[in-house]
Amino acid sequence: MNGRSRSSSPEISPLDFGEDLAPLPVYKAAATTALDFSGLLDEPLKLHEDLSSGCGGQLWPAGMVLAKHMLHYHRDKLQTSRVLELGAGGGSVGLTIAKGCRIDQPLYITDMIDMEPLMQHNIALNELDDRVRGRILNWGEPLSQEIIDFKPDTILAADCVYFEPAFPLLLQTLEDLLTLNPSAIVFFCFKKRRRADMQFLKSARRAFRVTELEDEDRPVFTREGLFLYTITAK
Ligand SMILES: C[S@@+](CC[C@H](N)C(=O)[O-])C[C@H]1O[C@@H](n2cnc3c(N)ncnc32)[C@H](O)[C@@H]1O
Repeated sequence: MNGRSRSSSPEISPLDFGEDLAPLPVYKAAATTALDFSGLLDEPLKLHEDLSSGCGGQLWPAGMVLAKHMLHYHRDKLQTSRVLELGAGGGSVGLTIAKGCRIDQPLYITDMIDMEPLMQHNIALNELDDRVRGRILNWGEPLSQEIIDFKPDTILAADCVYFEPAFPLLLQTLEDLLTLNPSAIVFFCFKKRRRADMQFLKSARRAFRVTELEDEDRPVFTREGLFLYTITAK
């Protein structure tokens, strides 16, 4: 991926999707729901969903799978991890970790500027202001000094493969993060909606080590077209 020229993140709105692109979940009116991930959270996560600010305003299927996987299999290890979520939307995966795990240091949830108010709203709704930081991180753009100093070792990305023009931008950001910290692990979950989505995986395999993750729910989510991997530096 070296030598790829950087371009800034495109603006993406739910209305930009044609039928040949990833169909969105059914448009729901803005509302707040409570999620306990099959009892894995003692106190449910409150998640405000509002698609008016972008497609990340709603919890997507890979977000559900990844949040549950992290709680089920990585709760203890997360205590000392430096966690950063990419394309967090309303922040569901990162907020679930902050809610359900002891974490020694604040965790970052990131997305484009349009999602920032919803991230901040959900942080406040769950009284996680001292444990979660909502920040703008546009894929493909250089990492901010704050993120460079934080040097994440655990990166989360759920349902970030759905818009082909953004694939090189996301690959660039993964490359930047894995160069910053070559021992970092990216937990990566996505739902295949179009054949092009597998192109992302092909490119990722060329640049990184991509490994399927064990999960007892795999038979169920595989049937629904969901993939769960770790991505690490080669
Ligand atoms: C399908 S949503 C997934 C939201 C959440 N991770 C989930 O699983 O529910 C994809 C998210 O990626 C974000 N995104 C898309 N392109 C981006 C870019 N170029 N830079 C940063 N975030 C981006 C969108 O704003 C959106 O919140």
